[in-house]
Amino acid sequence: MATPPYSPKQGPIPFADTHGDTNLVSSPEQREEQEHADLISALPSASAADSPVKLRRYQGFWLADLFLPAAINLRHRFEPRCDDVIVASFPKCGTTWLNALTFATMARAAYPPAGADHPLLRLNPHQCLPFLEGLFQGGREAELEALPSPRVMNTHMPLPIVPWAVPGCRVVYICRDPKDMVVSWWHFFRRLRPQLPFNSVFESTCHGPMPYGPVWDHVLGYWRAATARPDKVLFLRYEELLRDPAGHVRRLAGFLGTPFSAAEEASGTVDSIVKLCSFGHLKGLDANKIGRMHPLLPIPRDALFRNGASGDWVNHMTPEMASRLDDIVAEKMRGTGFTFSDL
Ligand code: A3P
Repeated sequence: MATPPYSPKQGPIPFADTHGDTNLVSSPEQREEQEHADLISALPSASAADSPVKLRRYQGFWLADLFLPAAINLRHRFEPRCDDVIVASFPKCGTTWLNALTFATMARAAYPPAGADHPLLRLNPHQCLPFLEGLFQGGREAELEALPSPRVMNTHMPLPIVPWAVPGCRVVYICRDPKDMVVSWWHFFRRLRPQLPFNSVFESTCHGPMPYGPVWDHVLGYWRAATARPDKVLFLRYEELLRDPAGHVRRLAGFLGTPFSAAEEASGTVDSIVKLCSFGHLKGLDANKIGRMHPLLPIPRDALFRNGASGDWVNHMTPEMASRLDDIVAEKMRGTGFTFSDL
């Protein structure tokens, strides 16, 4: 599909507008013949609890079999540009929100956030950014190469799979209290498999394997990179974003090298972005109420907007379960300097 006229000053355009709505993963017919078969078959494998999904351990992380060729190609073949922006996260930690905020902030010149024709009013936030492993899984790397700069892309991959991201690009990462992540994960996949026991997601988080996990190593990789290169990695916490969305949108814009001007501050641009991307607003839009994620992930889109709060774990875990997970996390993080406890 032809790329429309573009001015770098305008920021990114919604990916779905130029490349259709098949971003998340490619259908089986579109998949390339599996590359790296020998390497992949030699990797340790396991099944995700209560799920037919086969996982393989690559670079220290459990990845769905479907994404292994993509992970290898992404690691070795992606050519970053210095003005690329990568939105990274562990699933169910605020990806959709951060995608929306980052897109709205970067694209604000072309799409004023209070405008009646803003793309986020007609597209799900995930449709605005290319999903790196989805594109690589389908052998669609060329579509990424054809995108004008600055590109903004999304991934759940841990840092060892995207080693070029730091210091090659700018990365915006979001983490979340793992207890709330577990709850969110369970509700999300229960829309696909209503019988999924909460306990199996809980146990997978504690002891693995779980897709993209272990979660603590995922978080630590990006946190260490943010500590070493704060100019290259902005490390955000879902709970802090909830407490002060406007302050974090200002941080985000500053980090991206496009701080809000006095005129933008005076005209309320920050508040408009916060409002546009707020849970209540996005949840009510048809783009987020109607349809499914993808034929291969046929979960209704509204599952991305469930509760939008922190601390819901108290309604799903016993105090013993909560302290068991807290203890495991504390043990895994011991000596690193990282803690979730200030959440
Ligand atoms: P809950 O299930 O706890 O409600 P992800 O986007 O990584 O899949 O994360 C999903 C979680 O983010 C869900 O959490 C969802 O409700 C929440 N979420 C989605 N959009 C949000 C927004 N605009 N503001 C705050 N939270 C949001």
